[in-house]
Amino acid sequence: MKLCIIGSGHVGLVTGACFAEVGHHVICVDNDQHKVDMLVAGKVPIYEPRLEELIRRNAAAKRLFFSSSVKCGVDAAEVIFVTVPTPLRTDGNVDLSCVEEAACEIALALRAYRVVVDKSTVPVKTGEKVAEIIHRYNAADIPFDIVSNPEFLREGCAVRDSLHPDRIVIGSSSQRAIALMEKIYEPFSTPLLITDVNSAELIKHAANSFLALKISYINMVARICEANKADVEKVADGIGLDKRIGRDFLDAGIGYGGSCFPKDIATFIAICQQQLGEPFALLKEVQRINDTQLEYFVSKIRGVLRVLEGKKIAVWGLTFKPDTDDIRNSVAVDLINLLISERAIVQVYDPKGMKKSKELGVVPTARFASSPLDAAQGAEALVIATEWKEFAAVGLRELKARMQAWSIFDGRNLLNPSVVRQFGFSYYSVGRF
Ligand code: UDX
Repeated sequence: MKLCIIGSGHVGLVTGACFAEVGHHVICVDNDQHKVDMLVAGKVPIYEPRLEELIRRNAAAKRLFFSSSVKCGVDAAEVIFVTVPTPLRTDGNVDLSCVEEAACEIALALRAYRVVVDKSTVPVKTGEKVAEIIHRYNAADIPFDIVSNPEFLREGCAVRDSLHPDRIVIGSSSQRAIALMEKIYEPFSTPLLITDVNSAELIKHAANSFLALKISYINMVARICEANKADVEKVADGIGLDKRIGRDFLDAGIGYGGSCFPKDIATFIAICQQQLGEPFALLKEVQRINDTQLEYFVSKIRGVLRVLEGKKIAVWGLTFKPDTDDIRNSVAVDLINLLISERAIVQVYDPKGMKKSKELGVVPTARFASSPLDAAQGAEALVIATEWKEFAAVGLRELKARMQAWSIFDGRNLLNPSVVRQFGFSYYSVGRF
């Protein structure tokens, strides 16, 4: 089928490339001409495993195109996916201006029946707003239908999550639109869940909030484990073996970050307050635990090093999670700035996050190292803030030779405590002893 994707960011590019990979003809539209030019030249503006290969292959096969014209996309495709940014405003509400602008441009370009699919994460009832806007600017009253088709992609494995999703949610009141969506997703051997629009929109916020709840839950359990010399990983294994709980998202650490969890939880809390007139207290507690987890971890560093001022500390990690170059709302960045605020001398290394960190100046006085061992050179302590596999592969003998003193603070429980201690390190992690 011919598909149009409006918004060639993380979700739009991955979604478009994967639709092309399964045989659809896709035009990815973006209002950033520089980004479009890069994509046309075969350059991919974001790091996501397998994405570059997918884009190259499908563009060469003439199944994937790029344009800055919404009209071009709406003329060419029967189904239009909206994957534009929906950031949080400073007042805590979601900024829907990009969605509203896309809806208006689609309406002005309508010449024949189209299905408008919202894939961006939006508050419930946004579908109604999009329909209203299209009606308002659709002078010729061309027929169209609205669908909510939320995405559940994790950065760092977005291609895998797109090609092999756990479920595909399709929210619409139009049988014609649902039939077209079923055709689009036919090549995916994945269960389809057909719902109304509002339920589909709520599924996204409910899912992300629950995943973050699991993380804050295990981070609080980790604190109890430490007070009782228990091992949070064993506890997570033990509860995770219960199929009703599941082991995923029970990895204790320095807390969740990224462009989704913090925003989606804040949005769900605001939706509850606005629509029920009462706070979503459970999610506010999820936020509170997450907001205090970093301080809980850094207090361990202070407990060992005493004064941080003037101490050289190596930090491995800048990105909010491994296998991405994304540093948005990264707890690793917050950790580095907390250490620097106490006048520590921070040497940082990250396999993919340093370019954006330098460009955005997020850790202005940190020294960027050329490798994990270079970051450790002369350091009195090493802090692991992001669990890149590369860090677990660093030779502990070489590491010890580089460091001036030998404390490791593992914020992501990446290393094995007994192995590390065999090399003479003092080792501290989260919820383990
Ligand atoms: C998340 C959701 O997983 C995805 O379904 C949704 O579409 C977008 O938001 P993402 O934010 O890309 O995806 O990454 P995710 O793997 O969920 O990690 C989010 C944060 O939680 C990261 O900071 C990660 O370090 C942290 N995390 C994750 C934990 O601290 N513990 C865990 O067990 C899992």
